[in-house]
Amino acid sequence: MAPQTPQRSGRPGPAVTPLDPALEVAAEARVTLILGTSDTGKTSLAARLAGALAARGDRVAVVDADVGQSEIGPPTTVGLGRVTGELARLADAEVLALEFVGDTSPVRYIRETAEATGRLVRRALSAGFERVLVDTGGLVEGPLGLALKRAKIRAVDPDLVLVLQRRDESEPIARALESGGARPRVVRLVPSSAVVRRTAARRREHRERILRDYLARAATIELDTARIPLRDRRGTAVADVEPGRLLGVLGSAGETLGIARVRACKPDEGRLVVETPVAADRIATLIAGRATWGG
Ligand SMILES: Nc1ncnc2c1ncn2[C@@H]1O[C@H](COP(=O)(O)OP(=O)(O)O)[C@@H](O)[C@H]1O
Ligand SMILES: [Mg+2]
Repeated sequence: MAPQTPQRSGRPGPAVTPLDPALEVAAEARVTLILGTSDTGKTSLAARLAGALAARGDRVAVVDADVGQSEIGPPTTVGLGRVTGELARLADAEVLALEFVGDTSPVRYIRETAEATGRLVRRALSAGFERVLVDTGGLVEGPLGLALKRAKIRAVDPDLVLVLQRRDESEPIARALESGGARPRVVRLVPSSAVVRRTAARRREHRERILRDYLARAATIELDTARIPLRDRRGTAVADVEPGRLLGVLGSAGETLGIARVRACKPDEGRLVVETPVAADRIATLIAGRATWGG
């Protein structure tokens, strides 16, 4: 009789390569937050880890908390996506939920961005996802960067924070996290030398391309503001907005369905003309953010 080969317990599938320390630690964590300045390869790492974890059989979600260089959902939103296998880009994740924050920069909406990120992480966990990866924007330096990242980490409560840094630009945050006790685990990684560094102008172009692609699926619709109110983030009615302003599009349960761009506002007639890919009959409320694009 042939000797029995001992069976390894656990899931079948390719072994985690010891050459990939990020995958090794992320495979042990439920919630992993990826942090680093612009162009350290955070989004590429999030896509690669999500794909590799999904390929092992884990149920994987990604929360895209970068409201400027958005991959899951349009800029001005935090997005939750499902990943079921290897991905070429994070933008190939299936969008499950969005939260409109209101701007393409988090600096005026630190609390809102952090809270939206935390809500989407909890939503992913309660939906049964086993691994939740949080990709973040590049603002890490100075008091604003520190405040933003600490607020996000407080809201998300990650098991693991992966810090991508070339020198020591994220050390103030990394050290502050480490001084807080056992959670979260902090693992520092050196960015791949293949990461392409972009200028602020290139990042803006990239954001505009994402917006253009998002609105390429849009229809231009005229709305009656007596039926579909336009409000600011605090809930106050907004009478007039300029063309180009980006709006959050909410459904009847207050959920973010997408964004819209103002084409024309006729406050005297109570009419608002917007472009949006969201079907007109699903729109319950519009929220005026701060960002404008085009005009
Ligand atoms: N390992 C890699 N090999 C080749 N190009 C990469 C790699 N990682 C990132 N890049 C490229 O570098 C740029 C910045 O990477 P990205 O992941 O978007 O960084 P971040 O999210 O930190 O701003 C992107 O154009 C991306 O395609
Ligand atoms: Mg990124």
